[in-house]
Amino acid sequence: MLAGKHIILGICGGIAAYKSVYLLRLFVKAGAEVQVVITPAGKEFITPVTLSSLSGKPVISEFFTANTGSWNSHVDLGLWADAMVIAPATASTIGKMANGIADNMLVTTYLSAKAPVFIAPAMDLDMFAHPSTQRNLQLLREYGNHIIEPASGELASHLVGKGRMEEPENILKAVEEFFAQGQDLAGLKIMVTAGPTREKIDPVRYIGNYSSGKMGYAIAEECAVRGAEVTLISGPVSIKARHHRINVVYVESAQEMHDAAVSAFPGCDAAVMCAAVADYAVENYAAHKIKREHDEVPVIRLRKNPDIAAALGAMKRKGQLLVGFALETDNGVANATEKLHRKHLDFIVLNSPNEPGAGFMTDTNRVTIIDRDGASREYELKDKRLVARDIIDVMKEMME
Ligand code: C5P
Repeated sequence: MLAGKHIILGICGGIAAYKSVYLLRLFVKAGAEVQVVITPAGKEFITPVTLSSLSGKPVISEFFTANTGSWNSHVDLGLWADAMVIAPATASTIGKMANGIADNMLVTTYLSAKAPVFIAPAMDLDMFAHPSTQRNLQLLREYGNHIIEPASGELASHLVGKGRMEEPENILKAVEEFFAQGQDLAGLKIMVTAGPTREKIDPVRYIGNYSSGKMGYAIAEECAVRGAEVTLISGPVSIKARHHRINVVYVESAQEMHDAAVSAFPGCDAAVMCAAVADYAVENYAAHKIKREHDEVPVIRLRKNPDIAAALGAMKRKGQLLVGFALETDNGVANATEKLHRKHLDFIVLNSPNEPGAGFMTDTNRVTIIDRDGASREYELKDKRLVARDIIDVMKEMME
């Protein structure tokens, strides 16, 4: 289950750190590649030499490697990981993670990680029961992290109660179980188009739109986290794709997006067309910057752009699934249903730019999914990452 998986093992300063050596050994035996990140306090309990010998990689603890001056990139590390496991997680680190206090490499890496995060707390019973620890753990749960509850038993203080780090075998099992269930898109290739397109008017001007790319990037990330290989064809956006299974193809115009999509689609099992593609390109592109004239107003002539979704709909093989979006200001259901059929989509995601918190540029969206049988499912307003999960759940259901 874990063969070839990239795991970050985060170790904090607690007596249970000695058990992390066994946990590291179990991960390595299961075929995982493990990068240890240890807090400065963690090094008081267990030496980096032991950990690097077992993992076969230098242990990371500081932002900079002192003798070379090189920077340890938490961003790259966050991208590299298929999972991050923090064991033991102390009350202090749990508090920092819950509140985004990024004053060490471990918490910084946690904040950069796109992969699922498992947290195995270990502390004295009163610290564990304290309302602030419990509140922080609850926050971490709400952020989507997996808490591996500590067991009850004798603690380092010789007191007996809840706070012992779960045994390494059980932590391994929790991670394995996650991969057994959570990788439901493994082996699938999925293409996503995202963001706006730009149609050049002259060398310094273009026709564009307000699409931020957030919805499409969230869909690409959801697919990658669930095990798919993703080709993300993206117009110009200010956000970055953050998963090692996402291959981004950057394009600018609708024609470029069309060409990239048409060439990638035959190798894909599904495509989600989330881009806000310009319907028209400039026919009379000016090779030199258009100057302000005193009397005349320049005329920009337009020509139709290819409809990428419709082109893929026409190419679609049996077994391939095609998903579109519709952003409608009025007659939403009727317009979306017409597009669904005309473009040979399998289902369409309707959202409205008029609604507060939905559509372009926001972090949230409220969608209705309409399929070819005319069945529709309405969803609440939620974070675009959770909207992406709903959309991909429907896609997976239809592929079965
Ligand atoms: O622009 P329209 O409302 O027709 O877009 C509906 C769907 O078609 C969206 O999924 C959009 O990404 C896709 N589309 C496209 N190429 C176009 C126009 C739209 O792929 N030229």
